[in-house]
Amino acid sequence: MSKQELVLETKMKEKEIDEQPTVMDLPGVGPATAEKLSSAGYETMMAIAVASPGELVEAAGMTEAAARKVIQAARSVMEMGFESGTDILIKRQNVLKIPTGSENLNQLLGGGFETGAIVECFGEFGSGKTQIAHMLAVQCQKQDETAMAVFIDTENTFRPERIIELAKGAGLDPDKVLGNIKVARAFNSDHQMLLAEKVSDLITKQKLNVKVVIVDSLTAHFRAEFIGRGTLAERQQKLNKHMHELLRLADSHNLLVYVTNQVMARPDVFFGDPTAAIGGHVVAHASTFRIYLRKGKKGSRVAKLVDSPNLPDGEVAFVVETSGLKDI
Ligand code: GTP
Ligand code: MG
Repeated sequence: MSKQELVLETKMKEKEIDEQPTVMDLPGVGPATAEKLSSAGYETMMAIAVASPGELVEAAGMTEAAARKVIQAARSVMEMGFESGTDILIKRQNVLKIPTGSENLNQLLGGGFETGAIVECFGEFGSGKTQIAHMLAVQCQKQDETAMAVFIDTENTFRPERIIELAKGAGLDPDKVLGNIKVARAFNSDHQMLLAEKVSDLITKQKLNVKVVIVDSLTAHFRAEFIGRGTLAERQQKLNKHMHELLRLADSHNLLVYVTNQVMARPDVFFGDPTAAIGGHVVAHASTFRIYLRKGKKGSRVAKLVDSPNLPDGEVAFVVETSGLKDI
């Protein structure tokens, strides 16, 4: 550890336990630089620790060497903590499983949609991704009536009328259920990222018991704004940052992050499924569970678990009904 890091660490320890170290504690970051960083979205130690030097150079007009130093310092004080297996087991015991109305789907997911995780649902238009989002916003309130859902809506697809139907179907008071859902329209990818960052405030400042955060659709704005090969790297970098923010939310507040994703045709695939999820590895790797949804026979929907840390891959069918999801 360098002397500078040591000084920084001591400074951090002197602060109150619940007081987070601030960006201003970093070497060479005064109020003016902190302001520039903050307005570019680098408000927290974590944001800086995971940024690239180039991003900070652009955001705060600092030299690359200074940016490297700041990132290094942020990384050294971040609790990139190691936990024991026992700690994690205890944490796992607090995991809630949000059931769906379909027993098959619950079983596929080991009991329901897990908190503390990101679940990505990808599939073609009309496959039911947004329906599942509405269902989760309602179902999370079934076990705990103080539970709240945050719906980050990028395509203007949130429908209160649909929530009312689903709440009635679940035997809940529709007004109460609607009141416990916070909806925000995201007008572009930056706005979407900012909204995700603001969810922490709802929990820590407004003390809301947020159990589900929905981003529907995760990738639509990114896809529309970054067109062409040349912008792909930048798009992926931003998506990566967004995913990490969501992961941090899921992990630190034991909540479910549910994101939807479209698929694109892959003209190079001749055998098997010729579709692939948008966002590629960045989205796939950050997601804890991935569900591929497609339309099945007679109006049914087929959900396939394609990636899970502890469950076997499998496939189940269900139907979307007015009152909710049901087994066939
Ligand atoms: P994109 O956002 O376009 O990619 O599609 P999506 O995967 O989000 O599809 P969505 O969840 O919007 O699914 C739409 C389908 O759900 C419709 O085609 C209907 O089959 C079904 N659906 C939606 N609302 C109802 C309802 O009230 N009752 C019934 N029975 N089915 C519904
Ligand atoms: Mg949709």
